Amino acid sequence: MEKVQVSVMRYEPETDESPYYETFEIQPKKNMTVLDTLFLIVEDQDASLSFRCACRLGMCGTCGMMINGRGRLSCRTKVEALGSEIKVEPMRNFPVIKDIAVDMEPFFDSWQKVQPYFVPKEDTDEFSIIPHDDKARQVIDKNTDCITCGLCYQSCDVVSMRDGEFLGPAALTRAHNLIADERDGATHERLEKVTGSEGAFECHSFGACMEVCPKGINPMESIQKIKTKKLKKTLGLKI
Ligand code: SF4
Ligand code: FES
Repeated sequence: MEKVQVSVMRYEPETDESPYYETFEIQPKKNMTVLDTLFLIVEDQDASLSFRCACRLGMCGTCGMMINGRGRLSCRTKVEALGSEIKVEPMRNFPVIKDIAVDMEPFFDSWQKVQPYFVPKEDTDEFSIIPHDDKARQVIDKNTDCITCGLCYQSCDVVSMRDGEFLGPAALTRAHNLIADERDGATHERLEKVTGSEGAFECHSFGACMEVCPKGINPMESIQKIKTKKLKKTLGLKI
């Protein structure tokens, strides 16, 4: 295979005045991923390069980054699909810790604000079950694959424009899943939380979130459903 030039954004906030790019030449192998190339750089050329990852299987959600201008999981992005020049940058909308490694705190702060956990309606020791073939199940199941990678958050122009004062696609999708769950006892409280000044009505429906999600989730659809539920509630209709 042809050699590949990997241009990586380098930045150490405490010592560098501004970010800069460093290019490494690597010899790719078949099925090699962008994450593999970063490990190769660390092993053979520069051990100080920093980035985040864990599972290397598309499951943990830690290896999100900008690859050739688009948010992707680096462990699921094959080098052969990108050509001979690859540009790797940290995710947008997050503070850089070092190089490609970002601080995920803004994302998980938003997550926390929507009360992201199930609140049972009744105090019981029994599991509350919705059968797998029930219609209600389909609404909930659709978005439970979220791996909290933050790629939708980094792609969201409203998060950028409002300097983080928007809950963002993933947190709102999580909230909608719980609001739509008939077993949940915090529906109304949660709906108020996600329709305030940082909530669903701030979404401009740009749609980048659904373009980048590696799990095929459509946060924009969930956000739209939150808006509809809030309008119904305001009109005194059943939500
Ligand atoms: S909704 Fe998709 S892009 Fe957003 S955090 Fe979850 S898995 Fe990642
Ligand atoms: S390393 Fe876990 S999703 Fe990529």
